Amino acid sequence: MRTEITDDPAVAGRLLREGELVVFPTETVWGIGALATSDAAVRRIFEAKARPADNPLIVHLAPEWRLGGAQLDEVIDPARRSAYLGPLIERFCPGPLTMVAHRHPALPAEVTAGLDTVGVRFVSDAAAAAMLRACGHPVAAPSANRSGRPSPTTFEAAREEMDGRVACILRGPASQIGLESTVLDCTGARPVILRRGAVTLEELREVIPDTVGVAAPDLAARSPGTRHRHYAPTIPVHLVHEPPDIVPQHAAWLGLEDPRKLLSWSLVRVFDDVEDYARQLFEAFRACERMGLEAIVCQSVDDTGLGAALMDRLRRAAEG
Ligand code: TXA
Ligand code: MG
Repeated sequence: MRTEITDDPAVAGRLLREGELVVFPTETVWGIGALATSDAAVRRIFEAKARPADNPLIVHLAPEWRLGGAQLDEVIDPARRSAYLGPLIERFCPGPLTMVAHRHPALPAEVTAGLDTVGVRFVSDAAAAAMLRACGHPVAAPSANRSGRPSPTTFEAAREEMDGRVACILRGPASQIGLESTVLDCTGARPVILRRGAVTLEELREVIPDTVGVAAPDLAARSPGTRHRHYAPTIPVHLVHEPPDIVPQHAAWLGLEDPRKLLSWSLVRVFDDVEDYARQLFEAFRACERMGLEAIVCQSVDDTGLGAALMDRLRRAAEG
Protein backbone atom coordinates (compact mmCIF):
# COMPACT_ATOMS: atom_id res chain seq x y z
CA MET A 1 0.00 0.00 0.00
CA ARG A 2 1.29 3.50 -0.82
CA THR A 3 1.23 5.71 2.26
CA GLU A 4 0.33 9.37 1.69
CA ILE A 5 2.21 11.84 3.89
CA THR A 6 0.18 14.96 4.67
CA ASP A 7 0.38 18.10 6.80
CA ASP A 8 -3.35 18.68 6.48
CA PRO A 9 -5.57 17.33 9.30
CA ALA A 10 -8.60 17.67 6.99
CA VAL A 11 -7.09 15.16 4.53
CA ALA A 12 -6.39 12.71 7.37
CA GLY A 13 -9.92 13.18 8.78
CA ARG A 14 -11.55 12.56 5.40
CA LEU A 15 -9.59 9.34 4.88
CA LEU A 16 -10.64 8.14 8.35
CA ARG A 17 -14.28 8.86 7.54
CA GLU A 18 -13.87 6.77 4.39
CA GLY A 19 -12.71 3.80 6.48
CA GLU A 20 -8.94 4.10 5.90
CA LEU A 21 -6.15 3.78 8.49
CA VAL A 22 -4.32 6.98 9.46
CA VAL A 23 -1.23 7.41 11.66
CA PHE A 24 -1.34 10.69 13.61
CA PRO A 25 0.51 12.60 16.36
CA THR A 26 -0.88 13.06 19.86
CA GLU A 27 0.51 14.70 23.00
CA THR A 28 1.41 11.27 24.45
CA VAL A 29 2.64 9.06 21.58
CA TRP A 30 1.67 8.55 17.93
CA GLY A 31 -1.51 6.59 17.20
CA ILE A 32 -2.82 4.45 14.33
CA GLY A 33 -6.49 5.32 13.92
CA ALA A 34 -9.62 3.93 12.30
CA LEU A 35 -13.28 5.00 12.33
CA ALA A 36 -14.53 3.56 15.65
CA THR A 37 -18.03 3.02 14.30
CA SER A 38 -16.81 0.69 11.49
CA ASP A 39 -15.96 -2.90 12.42
CA ALA A 40 -14.16 -3.44 9.09
CA ALA A 41 -11.95 -0.37 9.54
CA VAL A 42 -11.10 -1.29 13.15
CA ARG A 43 -10.20 -4.86 12.18
CA ARG A 44 -7.50 -3.48 9.86
CA ILE A 45 -5.68 -1.91 12.83
CA PHE A 46 -5.13 -5.35 14.33
CA GLU A 47 -3.69 -6.55 10.98
CA ALA A 48 -1.38 -3.54 10.52
CA LYS A 49 0.05 -3.87 14.03
CA ALA A 50 -0.10 -7.68 14.30
CA ARG A 51 -1.92 -6.90 17.56
CA PRO A 52 -3.39 -9.75 19.65
CA ALA A 53 -7.17 -9.79 19.11
CA ASP A 54 -7.81 -9.74 22.89
CA ASN A 55 -6.26 -6.28 23.39
CA PRO A 56 -8.89 -3.49 23.31
CA LEU A 57 -8.39 -0.07 21.66
CA ILE A 58 -8.76 3.45 23.05
CA VAL A 59 -11.40 5.63 21.41
CA HIS A 60 -10.21 9.18 20.71
CA LEU A 61 -12.47 12.22 20.81
CA ALA A 62 -12.00 15.92 19.97
CA PRO A 63 -11.69 18.21 23.03
CA GLU A 64 -15.02 19.98 22.53
CA TRP A 65 -16.95 16.68 22.39
CA ARG A 66 -16.41 16.32 26.14
CA LEU A 67 -19.14 18.87 26.75
CA GLY A 68 -21.79 16.28 25.93
CA GLY A 69 -21.74 15.92 22.16
CA ALA A 70 -23.36 13.05 20.30
CA GLN A 71 -19.89 11.55 19.78
CA LEU A 72 -19.39 10.60 23.45
CA ASP A 73 -22.87 9.06 23.58
CA GLU A 74 -21.97 6.89 20.57
CA VAL A 75 -19.13 5.36 22.60
CA ILE A 76 -20.09 5.03 26.25
CA ASP A 77 -23.44 4.00 27.69
CA PRO A 78 -24.95 7.25 29.08
CA ALA A 79 -27.22 5.22 31.38
CA ARG A 80 -24.27 3.60 33.18
CA ARG A 81 -21.91 6.56 33.70
CA SER A 82 -20.15 6.74 37.07
CA ALA A 83 -20.91 9.99 38.93
CA TYR A 84 -17.19 10.85 39.24
CA LEU A 85 -16.66 10.80 35.45
CA GLY A 86 -17.87 14.40 35.15
CA PRO A 87 -15.32 15.86 37.62
CA LEU A 88 -12.52 13.81 36.00
CA ILE A 89 -13.40 15.10 32.52
CA GLU A 90 -13.63 18.65 33.84
CA ARG A 91 -10.17 18.54 35.42
CA PHE A 92 -8.08 16.36 33.08
CA CYS A 93 -9.64 16.50 29.63
CA PRO A 94 -8.44 17.06 27.03
CA GLY A 95 -5.14 15.40 27.89
CA PRO A 96 -3.28 12.18 28.71
CA LEU A 97 -6.08 10.40 30.62
CA THR A 98 -7.97 7.38 29.23
CA MET A 99 -11.16 6.61 31.12
CA VAL A 100 -12.58 3.09 30.94
CA ALA A 101 -16.39 3.18 31.11
CA HIS A 102 -19.30 0.90 30.16
CA ARG A 103 -19.47 0.72 26.38
CA HIS A 104 -22.36 1.72 24.20
CA PRO A 105 -24.12 -1.44 22.93
CA ALA A 106 -23.85 -0.24 19.29
CA LEU A 107 -20.06 0.15 19.35
CA PRO A 108 -18.39 -2.58 17.24
CA ALA A 109 -17.11 -5.44 19.42
CA GLU A 110 -13.73 -5.20 17.61
CA VAL A 111 -12.97 -1.87 19.34
CA THR A 112 -13.19 -3.34 22.83
CA ALA A 113 -11.94 -6.84 21.97
CA GLY A 114 -15.27 -8.21 23.18
CA LEU A 115 -15.19 -6.47 26.61
CA ASP A 116 -18.29 -4.63 27.83
CA THR A 117 -16.14 -1.59 28.70
CA VAL A 118 -14.39 0.96 26.49
CA GLY A 119 -11.45 3.33 27.00
CA VAL A 120 -12.03 6.93 25.88
CA ARG A 121 -9.57 9.80 25.64
CA PHE A 122 -10.04 13.44 24.62
CA VAL A 123 -6.85 14.53 22.85
CA SER A 124 -5.32 17.97 23.36
CA ASP A 125 -2.84 17.87 20.44
CA ALA A 126 -4.02 20.51 17.95
CA ALA A 127 -3.42 18.47 14.78
CA ALA A 128 -5.11 15.37 16.23
CA ALA A 129 -8.06 17.47 17.39
CA ALA A 130 -8.42 19.08 13.95
CA MET A 131 -8.28 15.64 12.32
CA LEU A 132 -11.01 14.29 14.63
CA ARG A 133 -13.18 17.33 13.94
CA ALA A 134 -12.74 16.80 10.18
CA CYS A 135 -13.63 13.13 10.60
CA GLY A 136 -16.66 14.01 12.71
CA HIS A 137 -16.72 10.65 14.50
CA PRO A 138 -14.83 8.86 17.28
CA VAL A 139 -11.56 7.25 16.18
CA ALA A 140 -10.21 4.02 17.69
CA ALA A 141 -6.42 4.13 17.97
CA PRO A 142 -3.68 2.18 19.68
CA SER A 143 -0.09 3.37 19.64
CA ALA A 144 1.38 3.29 16.11
CA ASN A 145 4.07 0.67 16.75
CA ARG A 146 4.03 -2.90 15.57
CA SER A 147 2.86 -5.03 18.52
CA GLY A 148 5.43 -5.36 21.34
CA ARG A 149 7.66 -2.47 20.10
CA PRO A 150 8.17 0.89 21.82
CA SER A 151 5.52 3.47 20.93
CA PRO A 152 6.63 6.01 18.29
CA THR A 153 7.08 9.54 19.61
CA THR A 154 8.28 11.22 16.39
CA PHE A 155 7.07 11.35 12.79
CA GLU A 156 10.18 9.45 11.66
CA ALA A 157 9.59 6.62 14.15
CA ALA A 158 5.91 6.39 13.22
CA ARG A 159 6.88 6.21 9.56
CA GLU A 160 9.51 3.55 10.27
CA GLU A 161 6.82 1.41 11.95
CA MET A 162 3.86 1.96 9.63
CA ASP A 163 4.97 3.10 6.15
CA GLY A 164 3.21 0.90 3.59
CA ARG A 165 0.68 -0.40 6.15
CA VAL A 166 -1.66 2.61 6.32
CA ALA A 167 -3.32 4.98 3.84
CA CYS A 168 -1.90 8.14 5.39
CA ILE A 169 0.47 9.60 7.97
CA LEU A 170 -0.31 13.05 9.37
CA ARG A 171 2.97 14.84 9.94
CA GLY A 172 3.57 16.62 13.26
CA PRO A 173 6.19 17.55 15.84
CA ALA A 174 7.57 15.10 18.42
CA SER A 175 5.16 14.09 21.19
CA GLN A 176 5.28 16.47 24.17
CA ILE A 177 4.87 13.77 26.84
CA GLY A 178 6.47 10.73 25.21
CA LEU A 179 4.73 8.07 27.35
CA GLU A 180 1.26 6.61 26.79
CA SER A 181 -1.79 7.95 28.63
CA THR A 182 -2.85 6.98 32.15
CA VAL A 183 -5.57 4.32 31.87
CA LEU A 184 -8.17 4.63 34.63
CA ASP A 185 -10.96 2.13 35.24
CA CYS A 186 -14.06 4.25 35.91
CA THR A 187 -16.65 1.45 36.07
CA GLY A 188 -16.51 0.72 39.81
CA ALA A 189 -17.36 2.57 43.02
CA ARG A 190 -13.91 4.20 42.90
CA PRO A 191 -11.47 4.71 40.02
CA VAL A 192 -8.54 2.28 39.64
CA ILE A 193 -5.35 3.01 37.66
CA LEU A 194 -4.73 0.23 35.11
CA ARG A 195 -1.71 1.83 33.43
CA ARG A 196 0.44 4.64 34.78
CA GLY A 197 0.92 7.78 32.68
CA ALA A 198 1.36 11.54 32.78
CA VAL A 199 -1.79 12.07 34.86
CA THR A 200 -0.44 10.89 38.21
CA LEU A 201 -2.08 9.11 41.14
CA GLU A 202 -1.39 12.20 43.25
CA GLU A 203 -3.27 14.45 40.78
CA LEU A 204 -6.18 12.02 40.46
CA ARG A 205 -6.53 11.91 44.25
CA GLU A 206 -6.90 15.71 44.31
CA VAL A 207 -10.19 15.19 42.45
CA ILE A 208 -11.26 11.68 43.59
CA PRO A 209 -9.47 11.07 46.94
CA ASP A 210 -10.10 7.31 47.06
CA THR A 211 -8.56 6.60 43.61
CA VAL A 212 -6.74 3.26 43.73
CA GLY A 213 -3.16 3.02 42.42
CA VAL A 214 -1.95 0.06 40.33
CA ALA A 215 -0.37 -3.12 41.65
CA ALA A 216 -3.57 -5.04 42.19
CA PRO A 217 -2.78 -8.71 41.50
CA ASP A 218 -5.78 -8.90 39.17
CA LEU A 219 -4.48 -6.07 36.98
CA ALA A 220 -3.79 -8.32 33.98
CA ALA A 221 -7.36 -9.57 34.10
CA ARG A 222 -8.74 -6.02 34.08
CA SER A 223 -6.49 -4.58 31.39
CA PRO A 224 -5.52 -7.06 28.71
CA GLY A 225 -2.71 -4.87 27.38
CA THR A 226 -0.71 -5.27 30.56
CA ARG A 227 -0.48 -9.03 29.94
CA HIS A 228 1.42 -8.60 26.70
CA ARG A 229 5.10 -7.82 26.24
CA HIS A 230 5.42 -4.09 25.77
CA TYR A 231 7.63 -1.09 25.22
CA ALA A 232 10.71 -3.21 24.59
CA PRO A 233 13.50 -2.45 22.13
CA THR A 234 15.27 -5.38 20.45
CA ILE A 235 18.36 -4.74 22.64
CA PRO A 236 18.61 -5.96 26.28
CA VAL A 237 17.81 -3.18 28.77
CA HIS A 238 19.36 -3.07 32.26
CA LEU A 239 17.95 -0.92 35.04
CA VAL A 240 20.44 0.44 37.62
CA HIS A 241 20.38 2.98 40.47
CA GLU A 242 23.80 4.49 39.83
CA PRO A 243 26.24 4.75 36.95
CA PRO A 244 28.22 1.47 36.94
CA ASP A 245 32.02 1.27 37.25
CA ILE A 246 32.27 -1.38 34.56
CA VAL A 247 30.93 -0.35 31.15
CA PRO A 248 29.52 -3.11 28.93
CA GLN A 249 30.72 -3.37 25.30
CA HIS A 250 28.77 -1.37 22.69
CA ALA A 251 26.41 0.02 25.29
CA ALA A 252 24.31 3.13 25.82
CA TRP A 253 23.85 5.08 29.06
CA LEU A 254 20.46 6.76 29.62
CA GLY A 255 19.88 8.59 32.86
CA LEU A 256 19.74 11.77 34.92
CA GLU A 257 23.38 11.65 36.07
CA ASP A 258 26.57 11.76 34.03
CA PRO A 259 28.03 8.25 33.69
CA ARG A 260 31.45 7.21 34.94
CA LYS A 261 34.05 6.48 32.23
CA LEU A 262 32.27 8.74 29.74
CA LEU A 263 34.39 7.72 26.76
CA SER A 264 33.74 3.98 27.16
CA TRP A 265 30.04 4.35 26.28
CA SER A 266 28.92 4.15 22.62
CA LEU A 267 26.00 6.51 23.33
CA VAL A 268 25.31 8.77 26.29
CA ARG A 269 22.01 10.55 26.97
CA VAL A 270 21.80 12.60 30.14
CA PHE A 271 18.33 14.07 30.53
CA ASP A 272 17.50 17.41 32.19
CA ASP A 273 14.79 16.00 34.47
CA VAL A 274 12.15 13.26 34.69
CA GLU A 275 9.91 15.00 32.12
CA ASP A 276 12.76 15.18 29.62
CA TYR A 277 13.69 11.52 30.30
CA ALA A 278 10.06 10.44 29.72
CA ARG A 279 9.76 12.54 26.56
CA GLN A 280 12.91 11.11 24.97
CA LEU A 281 13.06 7.52 26.27
CA PHE A 282 11.42 5.69 23.38
CA GLU A 283 13.31 7.72 20.78
CA ALA A 284 16.56 6.96 22.61
CA PHE A 285 15.72 3.22 22.44
CA ARG A 286 15.29 3.59 18.70
CA ALA A 287 18.60 5.47 18.36
CA CYS A 288 20.31 2.52 20.10
CA GLU A 289 18.68 0.10 17.65
CA ARG A 290 19.75 2.17 14.65
CA MET A 291 23.35 2.14 15.95
CA GLY A 292 23.26 -1.65 16.40
CA LEU A 293 24.21 -1.45 20.10
CA GLU A 294 24.27 -4.53 22.32
CA ALA A 295 23.10 -3.18 25.69
CA ILE A 296 21.13 -0.25 27.09
CA VAL A 297 21.78 0.75 30.69
CA CYS A 298 19.01 2.94 32.13
CA GLN A 299 19.13 4.79 35.41
CA SER A 300 16.06 4.41 37.64
CA VAL A 301 14.17 7.45 38.98
CA ASP A 302 11.97 8.12 42.02
CA ASP A 303 8.74 6.18 41.79
CA THR A 304 6.47 9.21 42.30
CA GLY A 305 4.58 11.55 39.97
CA LEU A 306 5.58 11.12 36.33
CA GLY A 307 8.52 9.05 37.64
CA ALA A 308 6.06 6.24 38.45
CA ALA A 309 5.00 6.05 34.79
CA LEU A 310 8.60 6.25 33.58
CA MET A 311 9.64 3.46 35.98
CA ASP A 312 6.74 1.31 34.75
CA ARG A 313 8.03 1.57 31.15
CA LEU A 314 11.67 1.07 32.20
CA ARG A 315 10.79 -2.08 34.19
CA ARG A 316 8.80 -3.53 31.32
CA ALA A 317 11.60 -2.80 28.87
CA ALA A 318 14.10 -4.46 31.23
CA GLU A 319 11.88 -7.57 31.47
CA GLY A 320 11.77 -7.93 27.67
O1 TXA B 1 -1.52 7.62 24.99
C1 TXA B 1 -2.15 6.65 24.59
O2 TXA B 1 -2.96 6.04 25.31
C2 TXA B 1 -1.91 6.20 23.15
C3 TXA B 1 -2.36 7.32 22.21
C4 TXA B 1 -2.31 6.92 20.77
O3 TXA B 1 -3.64 7.72 22.58
N1 TXA B 1 -2.61 4.98 22.88
C5 TXA B 1 -2.21 3.79 23.42
O4 TXA B 1 -3.00 2.71 23.03
O5 TXA B 1 -1.27 3.66 24.14
P1 TXA B 1 -2.57 1.20 23.23
O6 TXA B 1 -3.60 0.42 22.53
O7 TXA B 1 -1.19 1.03 22.81
O8 TXA B 1 -2.75 0.95 24.77
C6 TXA B 1 -4.06 0.94 25.31
C7 TXA B 1 -4.05 0.31 26.68
C8 TXA B 1 -3.82 -1.18 26.60
O9 TXA B 1 -3.03 -1.59 27.70
C9 TXA B 1 -5.25 -1.73 26.70
O10 TXA B 1 -5.30 -3.05 27.21
C10 TXA B 1 -5.89 -0.73 27.64
O11 TXA B 1 -5.34 0.50 27.27
N2 TXA B 1 -7.34 -0.69 27.44
C11 TXA B 1 -8.01 -0.23 26.37
N3 TXA B 1 -9.34 -0.41 26.51
C12 TXA B 1 -9.52 -1.01 27.71
C13 TXA B 1 -10.66 -1.49 28.43
N4 TXA B 1 -11.89 -1.39 27.94
N5 TXA B 1 -10.45 -2.06 29.64
C14 TXA B 1 -9.21 -2.16 30.15
N6 TXA B 1 -8.09 -1.75 29.52
C15 TXA B 1 -8.23 -1.18 28.31
MG1 MG C 1 0.66 0.38 22.67
